[in-house]
Amino acid sequence: KKILFVTSELTDLIKTGGLADVSAALPRALAALHDVRVLIPGYAQVMRCGLPIRIVGSVSGHADLPAARIGRLDMPDGLIIYILICPELYEREGLPYTNANGQDWPDNPLRFARLGLAAADIAAGTACIRWAPELVHAHDWPAGLAPAYMHWRGLRTPSVFTIHNLAYQGNIDMSLRRSLGIPGEACSPERMEFYGKLSLLKAGIAYARRVTTVSATYAREITTSEFGCGMEGFLSMKARQGLLSGLINGIDESWEPEDDAHLIQGFGVHDWAGKAANAAHVREHFGLAPSNGPLFAVVSRLVRQKGLDLTIGVARNIVEAGGQLAILGCGEASIEEELRELSRRNPGQIAARIGFDETEARRLFAGSDFLLMPSRYEPCGLSQMYAQRYASLPVARRTGGLADSIDDGVTGFLFDEPTVASYRQAVDRALSVFRQPQLLDAMRCRAMGTGFFWRHAIEPYDHLYRQLLEVREVAHA
Ligand code: ADP
Ligand code: GLC
Repeated sequence: KKILFVTSELTDLIKTGGLADVSAALPRALAALHDVRVLIPGYAQVMRCGLPIRIVGSVSGHADLPAARIGRLDMPDGLIIYILICPELYEREGLPYTNANGQDWPDNPLRFARLGLAAADIAAGTACIRWAPELVHAHDWPAGLAPAYMHWRGLRTPSVFTIHNLAYQGNIDMSLRRSLGIPGEACSPERMEFYGKLSLLKAGIAYARRVTTVSATYAREITTSEFGCGMEGFLSMKARQGLLSGLINGIDESWEPEDDAHLIQGFGVHDWAGKAANAAHVREHFGLAPSNGPLFAVVSRLVRQKGLDLTIGVARNIVEAGGQLAILGCGEASIEEELRELSRRNPGQIAARIGFDETEARRLFAGSDFLLMPSRYEPCGLSQMYAQRYASLPVARRTGGLADSIDDGVTGFLFDEPTVASYRQAVDRALSVFRQPQLLDAMRCRAMGTGFFWRHAIEPYDHLYRQLLEVREVAHA
């Protein structure tokens, strides 16, 4: 079947977090079963990716949304990516959602409405690209208007909307309605109105035929006031109607500790020499003192969700126990500064590298003994899956996908409360396992064997697509 993914990030081209990994890996994992192609905005980083982009179609303007062209990029492994080319909206220096100072682009409503409408144009066959999807799968608020515009156009093509993070909602001023070509009927609480605003995320939830999120536990959590970000009522209704489900993410085949070219040295089960070589590299690269003690890692976007303040709270316990901490990531300026300060106070024992680099991230997963992930909430989380594959045991909060992918005391350590006290107990358990080489070895082997590969995780997606497409065929018969 022909399926169009609509997304705002793709690891091959541009990435701010896990959405990019899923957008890149899931279509490839599904390729054996379906013809999955991806639509993504033509950001400056995409346009200068170095691979040829052929113009294959165009979409016309609507309300204040400008006309745009559709480019086609064929990745070396065969993945076909459609690029929405509109220089005035996308070709500028900065990140997908924010400028270099971390402020949202003021024209984000226009930028991502254009993305959603282009998906509807492609589904309607008006983009002239000689390919029309039988199903559209949109991801997170930037693609939330895709199912909505499809509905307003009267298209019968089914759509799926996946929530990767409910906290990012793309809420915009009601006054923008006309300039985005949103009909009046959309402005009700049953549709995309949200506390006096219009929510792009809610549009996706309201208009898609089915809604998914990225783990079973998160699918339950978002129907509660603690995790629902104000949408718990709406989501509970979807759940009661059987329209909301949690499908856990996977990881791609490149996560292979024996022969990952990014690593200093590969390694397999029971053979930790390669792990030690990566650890030595990490210590040197981060400016940590040579040591045989436990090495803890953080690989994360630096935002409140990820609980970095809690990690700062347990840092002293780690250092006092002879452990070290290496932190890699970037995000909110205040958190970046607190981590720099933490590393200044603990020279040689705690180091923060502000920024992101895929090779260093992989070496850190491979070289560390433990990965810290005290997330306040975590829709799925991929870092804990990568870490387990590379025999770094996650110490994580029991929430969302962390609860679903870590076996407490077997492949990692879970704690319940988002408090330093609760977290510290899990860190102490990790430190105690480190002092018992046989147990450490056994846990590492179990963690490496968990194998959260996409090839084991695509079945529920395939099932969902087939269900929606069958309903459609029956309706047409
Ligand atoms: P999230 O999507 O909430 O950031 P995940 O654990 O699902 O969390 O995905 C994290 C992915 O993003 C991993 O591949 C990780 O290496 C990567 N990553 C972490 N921090 C950054 C960053 N600052 N910039 C780009 N990628 C990052
Ligand atoms: C989001 C979530 C993360 C999830 C990722 C991919 O960024 O924060 O938990 O793994 O999306 O689905």
